[in-house]
Amino acid sequence: MNKNIAIIGSGYVGLVTGTCFAEMGHTVHCVDRDVQLVKRLNEGQVPIHEPGLPDLISRNVLKKRLFFTNSYEEALKQADFAFIAVDTPANEDGSANLDRISQVVEQILPHALPSLIVILKSTVPVRTSRAFKDQLRKRGATSIEVVSNPEFLREGAAVEDFLRPARVVIGASNPAAAEKAAELYRPLVQNESDLLLMDNESAELSKYACNGILAAKISYMNAIAALCDEMQIDVRNIQRVMRTDPRIGGYISPGIGFGGSCFPKDVRALTHIAKSMGCPNGFFEDIIMVNEFQHRWLFRAISSYFGDTVRGLKVGVWGLAFKPDTDDIREAPSLDLLKNGIEAGMKFQVYDPAAMSRVKSLLGESPELRYAEDPYAAAEGADCLAICTEWQHYRQPDLARLKKLMRSPVIFDGRNCVDIQEVRGAGFIYRGVGIRFL
Ligand SMILES: NC(=O)c1ccc[n+]([C@@H]2O[C@H](COP(=O)([O-])OP(=O)(O)OC[C@H]3O[C@@H](n4cnc5c(N)ncnc54)[C@H](O)[C@@H]3O)[C@@H](O)[C@H]2O)c1
Repeated sequence: MNKNIAIIGSGYVGLVTGTCFAEMGHTVHCVDRDVQLVKRLNEGQVPIHEPGLPDLISRNVLKKRLFFTNSYEEALKQADFAFIAVDTPANEDGSANLDRISQVVEQILPHALPSLIVILKSTVPVRTSRAFKDQLRKRGATSIEVVSNPEFLREGAAVEDFLRPARVVIGASNPAAAEKAAELYRPLVQNESDLLLMDNESAELSKYACNGILAAKISYMNAIAALCDEMQIDVRNIQRVMRTDPRIGGYISPGIGFGGSCFPKDVRALTHIAKSMGCPNGFFEDIIMVNEFQHRWLFRAISSYFGDTVRGLKVGVWGLAFKPDTDDIREAPSLDLLKNGIEAGMKFQVYDPAAMSRVKSLLGESPELRYAEDPYAAAEGADCLAICTEWQHYRQPDLARLKKLMRSPVIFDGRNCVDIQEVRGAGFIYRGVGIRFL
């Protein structure tokens, strides 16, 4: 049966969640405190780059199932469910900042129906849902239930992940509330066993546990690649061996490290949680340490190749987003290259199919940082090309055209994403992460 759903926080997670629930036939009000964001959404603009999202939004707006507002009252007056998808950034000490979550309690209270079920989708430390419920109870809201429902979607494949989830985690202390939340997701899962019901605290920790291990595998592989770089060993041989062991699984591609709004902050939060519990935390700290080292790989590789002559060096950059198919640049490795490089006197010509305007508003435009019209314009007259993001169309570039355009044919591949044989065959000097210099 169709429900009334309020989404609090309409960023990457909230907008995808709200739109997908509308697509399932529910009536959805997405509320955000950002006035400009809501204005843009109501003018038909889609503020984030996410494949498939614009069509879904316009279809559901037209069908009058999807609304955008700054008014909590409008969003909540008939809501059966309120999904909380506000950001939970890291504090200085690495702990998750829960100010926005606390604000939401106060914002929803005046308008919530007694039967409302609050569903916490933001990534939050263990016991946040309990604290949320306590705050509601203290303010007299005795019947509103709080369910933990961490989100596992990947930016760049968010719509697909939401509509076909590998699993849905539902944590609740009240079985009736858990069942109502499960009912919302039942049309999306393949099997009933993909609905993982548990207590709130397990659900909260499970999200950190999953992001932690994914980040750990990336850092582990990057630590191995760093050894390969030092010892002139080709990491591809190591990958070939590791892939044959099913216990190891995927996520073993070396590169310039992870970024985005989740892995870095969630591993920092995990470190903080472990520290505050008196549990071992060095392991989590090391994941971040390796990642920060790896973020500087391109800068180190370029500096070591060109030696003392990096001042005035013209570097073409392909890719700025922290990964392909998104415009998200939060903690993107490209930013480390740009900041360190500009400080060292390099000049950059950058191109990204989705993230240019975000980088422009963060770093501005200057003689040291120019924004190109297309990938080939970014490479024009360049002393080298640095690949920061493995967008699909960078994998098979027009090498003849590229070589003609560049001042010297040198490629630093921060994602090991181009065909090395082809690139070298076309006369380029190639450097990849952990790839033996031939
Ligand atoms: N981005 C991802 O891929 C992803 C995946 C899984 C989980 N998460 C988690 O989901 C949460 C949201 O992440 P995101 O990337 O969508 O963040 P985001 O920054 O893109 O969006 C958050 C939105 O919440 C709004 N907001 C903040 N406080 C508000 C309030 N009090 N009332 C109304 N709106 C408010 C902000 O204006 C912003 O538009 C985080 O906890 C994140 O860790 C993110």
